[in-house]
Amino acid sequence: MTRNLGTTGPAVAPLGLGLMGMSGMYGPADREEGIATVHAALDAGITLLDTGDFYGMGDNELLLRDALAARDRGEAVISVKFGAMRDPANGWGGVDARPEAVRNFVAYSLKRLGTDHIDIYRPARLDPGVPIEETVGAIAQLIDEGYVRHVGLSEVGAETLRRAAAVHPIADLQIEYSLISRGIEDEILPAARELGIGVTAYGVLSRGLLSGHWSAARELPPSDFRAHAPRFQGDNLRRNLRLVDALRGVAEERGATVAQVAIAWVLARGEDIVPVIGARRRERLHEALGALDLRLTGDDIARIEDTVPAGAAAGERYNEHAMAQLDSER
Ligand SMILES: NC(=O)c1ccc[n+]([C@@H]2O[C@H](COP(=O)([O-])OP(=O)(O)OC[C@H]3O[C@@H](n4cnc5c(N)ncnc54)[C@H](OP(=O)(O)O)[C@@H]3O)[C@@H](O)[C@H]2O)c1
Repeated sequence: MTRNLGTTGPAVAPLGLGLMGMSGMYGPADREEGIATVHAALDAGITLLDTGDFYGMGDNELLLRDALAARDRGEAVISVKFGAMRDPANGWGGVDARPEAVRNFVAYSLKRLGTDHIDIYRPARLDPGVPIEETVGAIAQLIDEGYVRHVGLSEVGAETLRRAAAVHPIADLQIEYSLISRGIEDEILPAARELGIGVTAYGVLSRGLLSGHWSAARELPPSDFRAHAPRFQGDNLRRNLRLVDALRGVAEERGATVAQVAIAWVLARGEDIVPVIGARRRERLHEALGALDLRLTGDDIARIEDTVPAGAAAGERYNEHAMAQLDSER
């Protein structure tokens, strides 16, 4: 049972694993448990593993290298994002997706990952100073040279998808998509479908908010992305947790958890969509995998969407500064 990433991308298991939370984006994480989670994912048949060179300033790629050291490289479809600039104080410094930067970033990623090729290579954000054709052209050259297998994109809008696909086939668009982030449905998802581009959905659990495990009492260190994310603040959080409570009722009737229903809903949106789940512990991974056995009926989907209607979330999915960098939100 696999799903194809677009018409030209690789076949992957229907769920992917995102490693971001294993390197500090969600506060401190247990590295050994992260590695054990990658192993458990591979053992369960998961193939798509997503990282970014800027997650933990390279640390996430080193974690993935260590996790794959005792495994067959062919088991994994490695997806790497590049282009996001960091600073030594853990901050963010814009985007660089110039062709020369692409070549520089990939050289470091290959070294850190300890591999001779990356399966899907993608700019994390559109660089406003660089035409997408140039960035995609640079990745296409890396494909010709054997360092990369497929081009991916992240958080871009329909027009950028079209321009990029005119240069080289695009395997998948990685973009936030969940019951409470449905912005792609109007234009971006139809454009991806028309162009034969798959969708790798992140934030399917809205970074834990839509998992059934979140509580208003949870304290977050400033280094945790969610400490600054609008949906996790004050009144927004209280309102969003009421939606989660309502969803719990629907999930319990199906003998499932909130997280499983949230994942199964995205899985049911189309065979061309692969949820990339951010589990960083084996226990969470096993819960997420349970979504594959949950077959939602048309009635279930209608009830879920009545319970959490499109646009019901309080607060944007990123803060104002980060929203302004999203080509997908233009
Ligand atoms: N392209 C982009 O712009 C972009 C942006 C963000 C992420 N991503 C990618 O997408 C991946 C997933 O993203 P995400 O962090 O937004 O993921 P998510 O799956 O929406 O949320 C993951 C968080 O949910 C919590 N959780 C609760 N129950 C869970 C369960 N059963 N399974 C998994 N997690 C559960 C975990 O928190 P606890 O560990 O605290 O329990 C975890 O930190 C990332 O790792 C990254 O590779 C891409």
